[in-house]
Amino acid sequence: MPRIAVFVSGGGSNLQALIDSEVRQHIVLVIADRPAAALQRARDAGIIDTIEFSRKALGKQRLSEEIQKAVEAYRIDLIVLAGYLSIFTEEFSAAWRGKMINIHPALLPRFGGKGMYGHHVHEAVIAAGETESGCTVHFVGEGVDKGEIILQARVPVFEGDTVESLAARVLEEEHKALPEAVLRVMSESR
Ligand code: GRF
Repeated sequence: MPRIAVFVSGGGSNLQALIDSEVRQHIVLVIADRPAAALQRARDAGIIDTIEFSRKALGKQRLSEEIQKAVEAYRIDLIVLAGYLSIFTEEFSAAWRGKMINIHPALLPRFGGKGMYGHHVHEAVIAAGETESGCTVHFVGEGVDKGEIILQARVPVFEGDTVESLAARVLEEEHKALPEAVLRVMSESR
């Protein structure tokens, strides 16, 4: 039974999708890098321990070190980044190669990388005149939003789409794609 930790920074709708799926029985820990409403979703789901770190107070190096201690203590097998915004040290990312996945609200490798998160992604997609967007679940590799792609889901971009309307359409697909990707990774790692 793989032990999963989910990392969050925001509202936690992706975490909620995992809680509402078969993945829930494997989630033993939720970690936030700041005060995040997502932690309450974990508490409301019962059985899930939560840890709130302060990225601001700790800084990148100490945050990665504290998180490493926590995931070791909980004997975590797979880390799922669900709306998580802090960048890890290279050392941490290397230690979790092949065991840490992320969901990004665009069709990587385009519209990814430093600074491309949340509404910035959808602004860039609309500004580029794309007729299609979507989301990508991938293993965390070298650098931001790099790494082997596990699965992607596509949505149309309509004339007159706003950042909000596109974000909502993509988020709906994220909520299906993330649980599916986690279950696929777990079945392949058996
Ligand atoms: C959203 O922009 C989502 O596309 C991305 O993280 C952000 C917040 O997601 N994956 P959540 O509602 O906190 O899960």
